[in-house]
Amino acid sequence: MRQEVVLIKLGGSVITHKEKPMSVNNIAIDRILKALASVKVPIILIHGGGSFGHYWSTKYDMHSKPEKYSSEGIAIVHESMISLNHIIVKSMLKLRMKPYAVPPFSIILDKKPLGKKIFELASMTRDKITPVTYGDIVYRTPHKYSILSGDELMSIISSVIKPSKVIFAVNVNGIYKDPYGDEVIPLIEEKSSVNFSDVKFDVTGGMKRKFREALKISLTGIDVHFVNGLKPERILKALGNKKTEGTVIKGKRSSTRNAR
Ligand code: IPE
Repeated sequence: MRQEVVLIKLGGSVITHKEKPMSVNNIAIDRILKALASVKVPIILIHGGGSFGHYWSTKYDMHSKPEKYSSEGIAIVHESMISLNHIIVKSMLKLRMKPYAVPPFSIILDKKPLGKKIFELASMTRDKITPVTYGDIVYRTPHKYSILSGDELMSIISSVIKPSKVIFAVNVNGIYKDPYGDEVIPLIEEKSSVNFSDVKFDVTGGMKRKFREALKISLTGIDVHFVNGLKPERILKALGNKKTEGTVIKGKRSSTRNAR
């Protein structure tokens, strides 16, 4: 059932300085949160790892493929994500928002959604609470772990609660026509209208992954917006259904089969 909730992912490249390990972009975090604090829409917030989780997962050679990884690496990547999450949560509290940190561990089982718990997140937004979850290293099967990105969490959560809108706040202006140009595609109605290999990617090659998850979400009938999170007024415009620079992947009523 569709819920009056908006899912917003704050990309790691927006909330951290990607090139400098463990460094937050306080200015960007503050500006985005101030913008979000000014709206009445119920929100579930998800954030990425940037120079926190990504930095350590690269150091310990951990990936999205379930494998036996270093237990020290697992502990360190997880702790770095909790630290980043705590920074976001504390900034929200300062702005009198009502954040509630949710480790992905509590809402998934082997990357599958725990439906009841995810419905609880939507239910909490009706009490003016903003659940905040994040990409992390997660347990998959005995002895095997893998990186779960915030982008995957976006589609996992969307598959259960069918939010009214989904917004990816990224560090570029949207999805570009070609990797070397700066022309943003304003509207994508058909997957086939975009050449997958041409999607411009960010420092970690993350844009392709975001695009893949966004397509999955759009195939369940939900509009997916890509906007530049470093310009928070664009997030507000997307929330208010006003035209802004960025890319909208039009939600399509059809089977999700094609997106897999
Ligand atoms: C990363 O989440 C999680 C870890 C590396 C632990 P994302 O993959 O969603 O992070 P960004 O937004 O690309 O930085």
